[in-house]
Amino acid sequence: MDSIVIRGGAALNGEIPIAGAKNACLTLMPATLLSDEPLTLTNAPRLSDIRTMTTLLQSLGAEVSALQSGQVLALSSHDLTSHTADYDIVRKMRASILVLGPMLARDGHAVVSLPGGCAIGARPVDLHLKGLQALGADLDLRDGYIHAKVPGGLKGAVFEFPFVSVGATENLLMAATLAKGTTVLKNAAREPEIVDLAQCLRKMGAQIDGEGTPTITIQGVDRLHGATHAVVTDRIELGTYMLAPVITGGTVECLGGRLDLVAAFAEKLDAAGVSVEQTPRGLKVSRRNGRVNAVDVITEPFPGFPTDLQAQMMALLCTAEGTSVLEEKIFENRFMHAPELIRMGAKIDVHGGHATVTGVDRLKGAPVMATDLRASVSLILAGLAAEGETVVSRVYHLDRGYERVEEKLGACGAQIERITGQ
Ligand code: EPZ
Repeated sequence: MDSIVIRGGAALNGEIPIAGAKNACLTLMPATLLSDEPLTLTNAPRLSDIRTMTTLLQSLGAEVSALQSGQVLALSSHDLTSHTADYDIVRKMRASILVLGPMLARDGHAVVSLPGGCAIGARPVDLHLKGLQALGADLDLRDGYIHAKVPGGLKGAVFEFPFVSVGATENLLMAATLAKGTTVLKNAAREPEIVDLAQCLRKMGAQIDGEGTPTITIQGVDRLHGATHAVVTDRIELGTYMLAPVITGGTVECLGGRLDLVAAFAEKLDAAGVSVEQTPRGLKVSRRNGRVNAVDVITEPFPGFPTDLQAQMMALLCTAEGTSVLEEKIFENRFMHAPELIRMGAKIDVHGGHATVTGVDRLKGAPVMATDLRASVSLILAGLAAEGETVVSRVYHLDRGYERVEEKLGACGAQIERITGQ
């Protein structure tokens, strides 16, 4: 297992290119199952999760080619040879559940392993299943698999989510494009990745209105055709790298960054004393004076503060002037970076869904362990600011969501290197 070694203290200055969004690409790729014509995705990120989704789609008989060193994905699912998503793939990546809706919509049957939980929570899929049942699917859960069928084809329906779910919204949005009649999704997720998916489906011939608002209306069509679509910029990678100059005291321009993708996050940074400027090339970020001040954070569905930036923000607030309270309202166990940050001298008290952080003058480098994707990058950020050496182990978590992190940070002056493990 690889580790990343950082010698902290250098102010980061320069430019960081932001890649296409992992969480958009992971829902755009299964959309190929909705048509027997080719789907081409450009600006695709080069990440292990994308390779896992590629393997899953190929196991169903789809053709997926990574062109231009992975930045272009050419997908085609002319003939499916299987309708079963195996546990050994699904357990590695929960987004695998996103093949369920498209397969049901296309061929009226699918067998998909239940994803199981992960480090940050139980991650049930009950809303995906309830929504598909509302569209007429007959679901039988046995032996750890979802056995789904809808002999006469999906039928449009009105479905209200009891609470916001990104993945369930994506699954139902894709399924509804080929359902007979009209589907109305209420209390739908509004994330930019949903908007991106809707725009791609529309290019494929889907009839969709209201994406980005709580109500999405889909008029089912008989078939979808191929399309070419550029994956939207990754707002979570963007937010992560925006913090690199802030925690180290430099200035970095995040190329491709768009303020509308990170508005709530940028607002919080402004309150903490950070300057975020939209330039023609991206977002230019630096702190306004010597130290950021404490701010309180509550994670919420978009357009609120993203849960996927909570760990990274906590790393920054460990070095802020004053005491901050972070409330994690989306996942039940998403403070596992806290004990690792405490090993670096941070002062954090975790009680249930709240973490109280009292800023310290300087963190100290230490050996720490990544536990999940966003926790791992928060430790990298802390290491950049810490005195001395930090060794982050189990960075396979990191590689799921961040391409070439040591190159991108190293190009801005970070003393960072990857040690290839056994
Ligand atoms: C997506 O996960 C993202 N993953 C997550 O990013 C992100 O944290 C999350 O949305 C919230 O923004 C991808 O897009 C691949 P949810 P998803 O359904 O769809 C509960 C990262 O770091 N829930 O919006 O699984 C669920 O347990 C990852 O890139 C149910 O109870 O999130 C959670 O508490 C981590 N039943 C809450 O809802 C369901 O059927 C929100 O989950 C579905 C979800």
